[in-house]
Amino acid sequence: MGKRWSGLGGWITERAPGMAPMYRKHMSEYYAPKNFNFMYFFGSLAMLVLVNQILTGIFLAMFYKPSAEAVYPGVSEAFASVEYIMRDVDWGWLIRYMHTTGASMFFVVVYLHMFRGLMYGSYKKPRELVWLLGMLIFLALMAEAFMGYVLPWGNMSFWGAKVIISLFGAIPYVGDTLVQWIMGDYLPSGATLNRFFSLHVIALPLVLLLLVVLHLAALHEVGSNNPDGVDIKKVKNVEGKPVDGIPFHPYYTVKDLFGVGMFLIICAFIIFYQPTMGGWFLEHDNFIPANNLVTPEHIKPVWYFTPFYAILRMIPAKLPGVLTMFAAIVVLFLTPWIDRGQVRSVRYRGTGFKAALVVLVIAFLSLGLVGAGVTTELIPALLGPSADVTLWENLFGRIMTLAYFGFFIFLWVYTYFGFEKTKPVPERVTMHD
Ligand code: HEM
Repeated sequence: MGKRWSGLGGWITERAPGMAPMYRKHMSEYYAPKNFNFMYFFGSLAMLVLVNQILTGIFLAMFYKPSAEAVYPGVSEAFASVEYIMRDVDWGWLIRYMHTTGASMFFVVVYLHMFRGLMYGSYKKPRELVWLLGMLIFLALMAEAFMGYVLPWGNMSFWGAKVIISLFGAIPYVGDTLVQWIMGDYLPSGATLNRFFSLHVIALPLVLLLLVVLHLAALHEVGSNNPDGVDIKKVKNVEGKPVDGIPFHPYYTVKDLFGVGMFLIICAFIIFYQPTMGGWFLEHDNFIPANNLVTPEHIKPVWYFTPFYAILRMIPAKLPGVLTMFAAIVVLFLTPWIDRGQVRSVRYRGTGFKAALVVLVIAFLSLGLVGAGVTTELIPALLGPSADVTLWENLFGRIMTLAYFGFFIFLWVYTYFGFEKTKPVPERVTMHD
């Protein structure tokens, strides 16, 4: 039994007796392993960013106009309303930069959160469902970010929408009809902008919130993994509590607050000093109003999509390219079944796994650079002005695509055929300085 409630807590418990057990189950008596390290900050940080996106989004929606109609030649109402927010609305610039920085930081945090899962085998039994729900969150987040990016109706919004929606055209038979159905027109237009606005501000945020609740509910059923990958429920004290567990509240609420403080300092620095991050968080071409007659020199998505975009570009034909890009996400969904190893944490796994994980990180980051066009500029600088940029870029991008998929193939072979030589896993968590 937990403590007796008095004051406001008592008043609520009398009227809603189910609330106190819920608070206990998820906070004061949720026993989390005592050896969490900083890699465990990113789940709560992702929740913080989600709240930030919703709150700042509400204020942006008060002034933003989802209309592609021209207010004056060449400038849509949507574009002009964003400029109005930046220049005339009190603190509008701050709210917008909090939202745009939040979008990029969401992906920074979620990629690190996923990487933590790979490092410590958090996707393995019994947490497969937690991982699958996480992957659904990732998909919803990508859709949410893509649609948000279209809303300012800048030139990259327009051309990005055109390129990405046209990918559905690769589907045999129904492709072209599907593209028109999604756009509501033959080109991205006012109809597209209106439906994206509706999906971005209400439908997808609701889906995201629901998925996050399910993600945490699924996690709290089985309990958290930890950097040692040991099951803390195996060793319990006389009260039946795990000896290596500590109540989430107050211990981890306090620890997470420290992470929040550090994270907010980094975000504040970006918002106040580098809001565009040199074109990585807000692209230069999106400060130009949408123009269906002028294509940007390099059409490319924001950084968080560039690894997947590079995979798409590395395959010469459209349908195989789309399928390969899709497969890059499907393999992540399947990771719990690809990895047959018995040991969870990288600390006790074979050298092959450690090396493969490093290769995966290198491949993912390299693909990100290829997709963002960095290699297009880097190759002449490295190999001389006469170097064949397309040749070298394709070679590099394809090797990195192979390395990305190679990780998953290797992981399956390595663990399925028992090649992995693991270290003994301790009975209880180890505490490190
Ligand atoms: C909006 C996005 C997300 C939010 C708000 C969120 C939130 C959380 C929170 C609060 C936790 C518990 C604390 C922690 O372990 O850090 C957690 C755990 C976890 N999440 Fe997420 N998550 C998100 C996305 C994802 C994604 C994309 C994946 C991977 C596909 C994922 C996989 C996991 C796993 C496997 C755990 C259990 C980790 C462990 O016990 O070691 N999550 N998540």
